[in-house]
Formats: sequence, structure tokens, C-alpha cells
Amino acid sequence: MEFKNLLIDTKNNITTISINRPNNLNSLNIKTLEEIAKGINLSINNDKTKCIIITGVGDKAFIAGADIKEFMKYDSSNAYTFSETGNKLLFEVIENSPKPIIAMINGYALGGGLELAMACHIRVASEDSRMGLPEVSLGIIPGYGGTKRLPLLVGKGRAMEMIITGRMINATEAQSFGLINHMVKKEKLIDFCNDLASKIMVNSPNAIKHAIKSLNSNYKEGFSNFSDEIFNFSKCFDSDDFKEGTSAFIEKRKPNFN
Ligand code: COA
Repeated sequence: MEFKNLLIDTKNNITTISINRPNNLNSLNIKTLEEIAKGINLSINNDKTKCIIITGVGDKAFIAGADIKEFMKYDSSNAYTFSETGNKLLFEVIENSPKPIIAMINGYALGGGLELAMACHIRVASEDSRMGLPEVSLGIIPGYGGTKRLPLLVGKGRAMEMIITGRMINATEAQSFGLINHMVKKEKLIDFCNDLASKIMVNSPNAIKHAIKSLNSNYKEGFSNFSDEIFNFSKCFDSDDFKEGTSAFIEKRKPNFN
């Protein structure tokens, strides 16, 4: 299958899916979100794939969030569909994949990028990576599970602070928070992730599938309110703050929310 914004490569039963929009710091436009969903589903159904690694092309970004240029035209109705559809077709598919998925974070993992990494089963980041949920600086909130999965990984207090300050944290802090499993030197990142995948793949695929299912079932309750994130996310798109926040990003200036 031909992809415009994705590279897919399978070697030694490991499928690496690389988001390929480096000029836009691999930000997620609709086309890319659709392609990642296709790539993940193809890999889940590919007998040759036993483990999946997701990463970004280039040495600057894993994924710098949703494509602000694309969604600055949205109102609450488009935003609701964007959040609901993306959650269902991609983020929940990643989380519930019977095959393990490792996020190989090689730079900025922001907004939807960090949310995608958090939906993965394991996160490994290079030392120079920076992570955050900066949506409030754009006049919106995370809409792909950020308000749900971040507190599960780092605790409510840290999640609250990260989300309402929008502050980026470095890999050392992310590791101390439990947001990432491992921090490794940039030049060792690919080898480390392949090695981790190999260690997983010596085990029973059937047992791994059931372990993922069983672990995920612990947190079902935490996700019973997914609909409130989608609703609150979409409501922000009708606000003046959203217009100001996204315009400020495009005009490369600080937003003025007063
Ligand atoms: N959506 C759309 N385009 C994006 C983007 C995003 N989320 N993140 C980066 N880009 C684009 C920039 O607009 C720029 O394009 P241009 O060259 O046409 O102006 C290009 O990628 C490079 O980004 P730039 O901002 O110049 O790089 P930088 O090194 O100065 O800053 C970041 C890097 C990640 C700090 C900065 O790009 C940023 O804050 N991005 C937005 C992050 C965000 O808010 N994500 C959440 C979205 S919900």
C-alpha cells in the first residue's frame, strides 16, 4: 500500500512505522492520522509482524501535535468529530492492539504526539526529547485522551500541572515521573527499541495479547468519561481564545488571552 506521510518497514518481525512530515515536525493532519490507523491495522493483521515501533522521521520531532494549521478552521462540531473519530479509529486501536506497540520518541512529543505515545504500551525516549500537552496555550484542551492517560501514568497532581501550565518537560523529568519507561542516548535509540522488541518477542504472542487485554481492563473505569474530554475539547473551538491562540502560533507571537 502507498502512503504519503508514512514509512513502513518490517524486519525480523518488527514493523517500524515512521511519520514522515519532518518539515511540519510530523504534526498530525487528517491524512496522516488516517494513514497511521491504516498502517497499524495492516501491521496487526500481518503475520510477519510481532511487535510494532512508532517514531517520527528526522532528528527534531517524534510528533509536534495535531496540525494546528489544519484545525484552526474548525468549530465545535468539526472538533467533536475530529476527537471522537480519532480516538475510536486510532488511539483506542493502538491501546488495545494485541501486538505490543513501542513509542520511540526521538524529539518533541507534544499534544496529540504525546497522547499517541501514551496510548502505546511502552515509551522509550532519546535524552534530548521534550514532552508536553501545550493545548491550553492555543485556547483548547487535549482531545486525544491526554486528560485521561496522563494522570494514569504520572499521577493527578503532575498531570494537572503539566496540562494547565502547558509546560514541556525533558526526558529526565519524564522518566522520573514514570511518563517514559526508558531514556537512552540518541544514537542508541533504534538499537535499544529493537532490542526491547526482541526481548518481548521471545515470549508467547498469545500470552502477550491476553496480558495487554488484562492490564488494560484495570483502567476501563478511568476511561468511562472519555466523552467529557471530547465534549470539553470541542466546546473550546467556539471561543475567542482558540482563535487568538492558533493565530498567535501561525504569526509566531505570544497569545494575548485578555
Ligand atoms: N502544527 C502545524 N505545524 C507545525 C506544528 C503543529 N503542531 N508544529 C510545528 N509546525 C510547523 C511550524 O509551523 C513550522 O512551519 P513553517 O516552517 O512553515 O513556519 C515548522 O513546523 C517548524 O516549526 P518551528 O515552530 O519553526 O520550530 P521550532 O524549533 O522553532 O519550535 C516547537 C518547535 C515544537 C516548540 C514549535 O513548533 C511548537 O510549539 N509547535 C506546536 C506545538 C503544539 O502546540 N502542539 C499541540 C497542538 S494541539
